[in-house]
Amino acid sequence: MSSSVKPFIVVGNWKMYKTSEEAVNFVENLIPYAETASSQVYLAVPFTCMDPVAVMCKGTKIIPGAQNMNDRDDGPFTGEISGKMLQSVGAQFVILGHSERRQIFQESNEFINRKIKKAIELNIRPILCIGETASERDKTQTTQVLTSQIKHGLNALKGDQIAELILAYEPIWAIGAKQAASPEVVQKIHFFCRNYIADQYGITVSEKISILYGGSVTQENAKLLMEQNDVDGFLVGSASLNVESFGKIINNSKGSPSKN
Ligand code: PGA
Repeated sequence: MSSSVKPFIVVGNWKMYKTSEEAVNFVENLIPYAETASSQVYLAVPFTCMDPVAVMCKGTKIIPGAQNMNDRDDGPFTGEISGKMLQSVGAQFVILGHSERRQIFQESNEFINRKIKKAIELNIRPILCIGETASERDKTQTTQVLTSQIKHGLNALKGDQIAELILAYEPIWAIGAKQAASPEVVQKIHFFCRNYIADQYGITVSEKISILYGGSVTQENAKLLMEQNDVDGFLVGSASLNVESFGKIINNSKGSPSKN
């Protein structure tokens, strides 16, 4: 199943790094790289710099977004941020169900599903993260874990809504590790996910949905990973914190000549 007609999407996930001032500085330096980029460039920034980053991204090729949101519009939820608030400061996409949210903050598939529905309602493009732990992988439970996360995460969504969202496969054992999953493993799992989506929601949805890989993507391993047929983009953590390494990844996309 070819997915080559879709734009290759590279999302930078800054996690809990960068002050507002550092963020502004970074975006200023990233703009020239984004101008020549062969990928669509998404930047998931901390809430505290959403506003200035979104203002700076206007008229550039960088799409600004957030790393999480609550599923309610407002209410007595100390410390939470709603999609409505993010929308008002220019977030165009949001990462949901990242493994750090699932594991450290005990987010359930049901909560993530409610957030996805809210994001769609607000016209904020959701990126649903899925992935297995090392011990689940070792017990050969990977496909079982992934299908459960997809099934519950996408519960009660319509096919056309699913086609528009982004799925990010992030094996937890490869996040922040020295080594990414091998291109063969990534292709095998992405192919499995696309087939599962085809079975559940139809071929058209499975062809339209973008499936990204995340977990220790670097400028060195990006090329081989992006050559895999079912890899439609990357979710990049550590390597997105440095403008040169992120700039190289976004300029080295599928079907385009390498810029370095
Ligand atoms: P990493 O993080 O690239 O630093 O492994 C990826 C992620 O957690 O999204």
